[in-house]
Amino acid sequence: MSGQANTKLHIDVYERNWMIISIVLLVVFVTAVSIAGFMMGINVPAPQNRVNPNTVAKEGPFATPGLRELGGGKYEAYILAGNWKFDPKEMSVPVGSSVTFYITSSDVQHGFKLASLETGEATNLNVQVVPGQVSKLTIKLDKPGTYQYICTEYCGGAHPTMFGTLTVTP
Ligand code: CUA
Repeated sequence: MSGQANTKLHIDVYERNWMIISIVLLVVFVTAVSIAGFMMGINVPAPQNRVNPNTVAKEGPFATPGLRELGGGKYEAYILAGNWKFDPKEMSVPVGSSVTFYITSSDVQHGFKLASLETGEATNLNVQVVPGQVSKLTIKLDKPGTYQYICTEYCGGAHPTMFGTLTVTP
């Protein structure tokens, strides 16, 4: 037994400093994610619900993919990825529209990224398209022009041909 009655929890100075650093980092990350989510409108794509990739092209909303007008400048876009194409391949909405995308795959994993065809400027819409899951993301299209959605995930030989066009009319 040591003569010192040590009732206080002893924490090494290095250990204490690293604990402080990790707490500071945690606060920084939570702040960054909050700023991205609430102030910059960056959404984490959440799996909306599950579908059967074998029957998704035959039944349910993805059997008739495309735009649905909800009124008040709001649209839903059901997009089926598969066979190295996006269905539909072309869509058009008026400027100022808010479009909620529902995207799924009937075969392998694809990606879906929306960018301006004229400037190459990317939008906030960039999701993975996983068979069996529905990816959902909403975007407000405030600039008229031609946008291209492209597959961002290598999915086979015809991967480079996998794209479609969204026209935002003035
Ligand atoms: Cu689909 Cu690459």
